[in-house]
Amino acid sequence: MASVTSLTASVHQRLADALSAALPEAGSADPLLRRSDRADFQANGILALAKKLKGNPRELAAQVVSGITAPDLIKDIEVSGPGFLNITVADGAITENLAARAADGDRLGVPLNPRAGTTVIDYAQPNVAKEMHVGHLRSAVIGDALHQMLDFTGEKTIGRHHIGDWGTQFGMLIQYLVENPDQLAPAADVDGEQAISNLNRVYKASRAVFDADEEFKDRARKRVVALQSGDKETLEMWQRFVDESKVYFYSVFEKLDMEVRDEEIVGESAYNDMMAETARLLEESGVAVRSEGALVVFFDDIKGKDDKPVPLIVQKADGGFGYAASDLSAIRDRVVDLHATTLLYVVDVRQSLHFKMVFEAARRMGWLNDEVTAHNMGYGTVLGADGKPFKTREGETVRLEDLLDEAVQRAAEVVREKARDLTEEEIQERAFQVGIGAVKYADLSTSANRDYKFDLDQMVSLHGDTSVYLQYAYARIQSILRKAGAETGGPAAHPELELAPAERALGLHLDAFGDTLAEAAAEYAPHKLAAYLYQLASLYTSFYDKCPVLKAETPAQVENRLFLCDITARTLHKGMALLGIRTPERL
Ligand code: ARG
Repeated sequence: MASVTSLTASVHQRLADALSAALPEAGSADPLLRRSDRADFQANGILALAKKLKGNPRELAAQVVSGITAPDLIKDIEVSGPGFLNITVADGAITENLAARAADGDRLGVPLNPRAGTTVIDYAQPNVAKEMHVGHLRSAVIGDALHQMLDFTGEKTIGRHHIGDWGTQFGMLIQYLVENPDQLAPAADVDGEQAISNLNRVYKASRAVFDADEEFKDRARKRVVALQSGDKETLEMWQRFVDESKVYFYSVFEKLDMEVRDEEIVGESAYNDMMAETARLLEESGVAVRSEGALVVFFDDIKGKDDKPVPLIVQKADGGFGYAASDLSAIRDRVVDLHATTLLYVVDVRQSLHFKMVFEAARRMGWLNDEVTAHNMGYGTVLGADGKPFKTREGETVRLEDLLDEAVQRAAEVVREKARDLTEEEIQERAFQVGIGAVKYADLSTSANRDYKFDLDQMVSLHGDTSVYLQYAYARIQSILRKAGAETGGPAAHPELELAPAERALGLHLDAFGDTLAEAAAEYAPHKLAAYLYQLASLYTSFYDKCPVLKAETPAQVENRLFLCDITARTLHKGMALLGIRTPERL
């Protein structure tokens, strides 16, 4: 593996060196390098620095320019305006940089983060015995992308699917199953669809008995106690719900084209044995106090409508532990046993108050501190075309599966229309990759904290900022490369060649892949990677419009342009894969 220093970083370093040579008293000064329309880069930092040291910015800039000798890297550098520097990179440097990236296989020269730690990422956490709906989409899609992006930057990344598999509602379900054992088939015998329809049926039936029959209610309550104290028969019944639900979850994750590992499914129940100790530690340290029989944590800045403090409830007055106790126990587990340095939660923004309280309590306990931090991504809502939270026409929550099926169906129409030499089977396969890609991309290309409209027409459009556009760009490149294989020597870098403006623009953008990825991963911002890829496809399109590839002037130019095609395709492929989106070879 050979990571590649980006051109941006190299130019930055040269400028910084020249700047501190010209201004030794400034110490290490940041030239503030930006990509620019005027030249390849513009450095703006000299202005502020000159002001601070009461010098003349244009003079200082001129001094920096004369201090730079790097003809291999920098073709042109000039002072502009009140003291900016415009910098043009040498064509050969661009091509050589890309050649080094191309030689680095799947990593494309992207360096590993030298300060990588261990991140535990909590995402895709559906609830046992319940259907997954549109609300579960974002956590799965964003979490999966972040999992892969962080991993690629060298972070040790551990997934945790904190599924809702514990709590009082299981008393009712289990009691019903104890009394009607044939209502749930063995998990091994059902597929996802049967599993969820069985679970739905049991849920409804048990609810009906629970609401109508006082004595059943009583038995259900006793069942909760039996569950929490580890009664064997009760646990066996509970396990059947979990197993059947997992069959269903896996089927939905498969529809989402998303890999979920069994050892990363660690639900609320997994922390059951820790909860009493968590409560004891909180109480002994005084972080939690008894209030009306319950064990709670108070916060000065968290108050309800009536100005009364809203506490975090660790243990209810009846002794039961709830959501907060399992989250606090999970923090201990993730910090102490998994040695996490970062805890990342991809959970609906509506739970942000819960996490604010949980994190603050954990900080008071010292479980979180300067070395171990926690963040909730707090994503926004998926809206319907009317701008209101997405519902079916009947006003019900949308089942996640229905939504995915519909996306695949729409994608099939688009693929079929364009397909020339695809078999029906290939059309179906592409429809899946295009449809699911469209749903994921629409989600990931909006900054996570914002709401977005679920608009299938827009999502599968061939024009504009969609995954289909990116997939077509990729497939088009593959088709050129296939054709070239027969006609030419194939892709090869030729640093001795001059580059056309469209080639330079494409090349410089390709160079920024690693920097963009590092930034997107550090900020938990997949939309920055999505925006990068969209721009890459756009720059490729203008390159392709302006620069004939197979009909270029010389064989060397053909090879060099094919080389640009190849590395563009590989970068698109890698970037899309990190977002969880496929790039079919033919479309
Ligand atoms: N199962 C929860 C829900 O569907 C989300 C769990 C989020 N993660 C956590 N550690 N609390 O709302």
